[in-house]
Amino acid sequence: MNTATRDPEAVLTETVLDTFARTPDPRLRQLMQSLVRHLHAFVSDVEPTEAEWMAAIRFLTETGQICDGVVRQEFILLSDTLGVSMLVDAINHRKPGHATESTVFGPFYIAGMPDRAAGEDMAQTPGEPALVHGYVRDTEGRPLAGAVLDVWQTAANGMYSGQDTAQPEGNLRGRYRADDTGYYAIRTILPVSYPIPGDGPVGRMMAATDRHIFRPAHLHFMIEAPGHQTLVTHLFNAGDPYLASDAVFGVKPSLVVQYEPRGADSPLAARYGFRSGFHEGQYDFVLPRA
Ligand code: BEZ
Ligand code: FE
Repeated sequence: MNTATRDPEAVLTETVLDTFARTPDPRLRQLMQSLVRHLHAFVSDVEPTEAEWMAAIRFLTETGQICDGVVRQEFILLSDTLGVSMLVDAINHRKPGHATESTVFGPFYIAGMPDRAAGEDMAQTPGEPALVHGYVRDTEGRPLAGAVLDVWQTAANGMYSGQDTAQPEGNLRGRYRADDTGYYAIRTILPVSYPIPGDGPVGRMMAATDRHIFRPAHLHFMIEAPGHQTLVTHLFNAGDPYLASDAVFGVKPSLVVQYEPRGADSPLAARYGFRSGFHEGQYDFVLPRA
C-alpha cells in the first residue's frame, strides 16, 4: 500500500519516527522512537480537543514554573503520583529475595547534613520520642561496619526542614554510622503521616481525580557501604491509616515496622537518655554487593 492510500494519521506517526532513524546514539534513537509511538498512540486513543491539548500544555508549563531549584520539584511529584517513580525503582532494583527493598527517593533529601553519633537525637522540634535501631548486614549476614545511614523525616507538623523555613537547619536529618558489629541507633520522634505539596498543578490533578495527597508516616534512609548497592528506602509505621493508599505508591509490606511502647525504666532508656516513655522500632537492613 503506498502512503497516499493509507490513513494519514498513521502516516504522520511513521514520518515522525523516520526523522529519528539516523540518531547516532542507538539508545537515544530507541527512547525517542518509543516516546513518539506511545505519545501518538495516547493522542489517537483519547482524541483531545485543541482546548484540552492546550490545557495539558498549560499544566506541564505550570509544573515547571512552580519548581524552585531547592526543595520544590513538581516534576518529581508528578512522576511519583503517577506511579512512574516506583516503576523506575522496581526496574532498577530487582534485588535478591532477602535484600531490603527500596522505595521512592522523594524530593526532600538534602545532602551534607550533620554527622551524628550513635543514638544521638536528631530532633530539635517536639514530638513523641522514638528510637530506631538494628543492624546493617550483607546478604551473607556479615556486618557492614561503617555503613553510613543518611536519614530524614518530617517534624510533627508534617513538614521537612528546608521545606519549612521555621525549623532549625538539619532538624530531623543526619548521617549515622554503623559500628563494627553493623549496629546503628537513631534517636528521633515518631514519624507522622503528612500531605505532599498540594498547592500546585499536581495537587489540582489529585483533587480533580478524587485522590487524597497523604503519605503514611515514614522515616527515609539512604544507606551506603563500600562495595555494596546503595539502598534508598523508608521505614513505615505499622497501623498508619494511609498504608494502603500512599499518594505516591511507595509502601512495601517488608518496610512496615511496629513501634513498641517502652517505659523510662527500659535499659534502652538509660542507654540513650530517654527520661520518659518512648517508642522503639527495630529494623535490620540487608545490602547486596554492588
Ligand atoms: C517524601 O516521602 O518525602 C515524598 C515522596 C514523594 C513525593 C513527595 C514526598
Ligand atoms: Fe517523606
